[in-house]
Amino acid sequence: MPEPAPAGSTGRSDRIAALEALDHQQVKPCRLCDLCRARKQTVFGEGDPEARIMFIGEGPGADEDDQGRPFVGRAGQLLDKMINAMGLQREQVYIANVVKCRPPGNRTPTPIETRTCLPYLLSQLRIIRPAVLVTMGNAATQTLLSPKKGITSVRGNWFHFRALEPDGPPIPAMPTFHPAYVLRNYSKMTRGYVWNDLQQVMKLLGMKPPTPRSTDGNADLVPED
Ligand code: URA
Repeated sequence: MPEPAPAGSTGRSDRIAALEALDHQQVKPCRLCDLCRARKQTVFGEGDPEARIMFIGEGPGADEDDQGRPFVGRAGQLLDKMINAMGLQREQVYIANVVKCRPPGNRTPTPIETRTCLPYLLSQLRIIRPAVLVTMGNAATQTLLSPKKGITSVRGNWFHFRALEPDGPPIPAMPTFHPAYVLRNYSKMTRGYVWNDLQQVMKLLGMKPPTPRSTDGNADLVPED
C-alpha cells in the first residue's frame, strides 16, 4: 500500500513540496498494479495546490499518457471550456484522476486497479483539501461517493466525501457527466445538465454569477435558450 501523505499540510509551499514528494517518491515509481506495464508515464494531476475546486476524472487516455498531464486531449479541451464558463482558468483549479496510469485501450479501470491507486488520490485530497469536488463520470463518482445509482441518476445532487474524516470535515461533492460522455452525446440537454451542475458549485462557493451565453466564451457549454 502507498504511504498516506501527512495530514493537514497548510501553506502553499508545504503543499507544493508534499505533492512533489508524493509524485516523485510514490506515483512515478509505482508498480503496484498491471497498469504500469503498458503506460508511457504516470499522470499525477496538476493545478493550484490551494484550489477550492478539484475536478476528478477516471484515468489518463492516450494524449495524457503521451504528455504526462491530465485532461489534455479532446475531453480536456471541453473540461477547459467548463472551467472557463465558470469564470476560472485551468490553473486556478486542481485536476486529477482516480487512476494514474492509462488503462490499455482506454478501458475502465478494474476494481483492483482503482483500489490500488486510490490512496494516491486520497493523499492529493488530504494535501489540497479543496472546498468542493466535482466527480466526472461513473468511475470517479462511484469510487469517491459510492452512490447506489449511476451517474445519470445522481448527477446534479450534492454528496459528501467523507474519507478524510476524522482529519478534516466532509467535502461537498457534485457528480456530473464526464466530458468524454458529453462529447459523445453533444446535445443541448447534456450540456445543459453539466452547466446546471457547475452553476450549483459556483453558487455554493459564492462565485460571481456567470456571464450570459457568448459566442467566444461559454457558448460550447451553455446551450441557447
Ligand atoms: N479522461 C479522464 O478521465 N482523464 C483524463 O485525464 C483524460 C481523459
